[in-house]
Amino acid sequence: MSVPDLAGAEEVEIETTVNGRPLRRRVDARQHLADFLRQDLELTGTHLGCEHGVCGACTVLLDGRVARGCLTLAAQISGRRVDTIEGLSESGALAELQRAFIERNAAQCGFCSSGMLLTAYELVSSGETVSRADIRAFMSGNLCRCTGYHAIVDAIAAVVAARNGGARP
Ligand code: FES
Ligand code: FES
Repeated sequence: MSVPDLAGAEEVEIETTVNGRPLRRRVDARQHLADFLRQDLELTGTHLGCEHGVCGACTVLLDGRVARGCLTLAAQISGRRVDTIEGLSESGALAELQRAFIERNAAQCGFCSSGMLLTAYELVSSGETVSRADIRAFMSGNLCRCTGYHAIVDAIAAVVAARNGGARP
């Protein structure tokens, strides 16, 4: 990820696309992407847990790949596309995963769920044939305090299976 030269800058102007919507804003040079989404755009589905890059609650898609909203500066999204849980839910892109999470009780308090769903979306969208161990490894950057992970892996495995014509990992 490129790091803009922010030496001495208080604010920077960014042009970006968030959930398909082009935006131009002035942002504080030190503002994190998660704060920009939550406070400036009122997209509060991006959660903040540790704010240290550990828990994955702040996960968003940056040009289609998962990124930590707490470790990315708002200034770094200029010229790039951001997708959040709101945009992908409204477009229906997450419908299959959301249904599988509900059916398998893979969301309890829900605090981790937006990050889990976006990370799982990157995995299932890859079209790769994956094992349960692969799913666990890919999801290992997203922490959950409630489910014990088994139901989450089950839900993702079900979507992978459906996409692979029934071959369940
Ligand atoms: S809030 Fe970003 S990884 Fe925990
Ligand atoms: S469902 Fe509660 S933290 Fe994951």
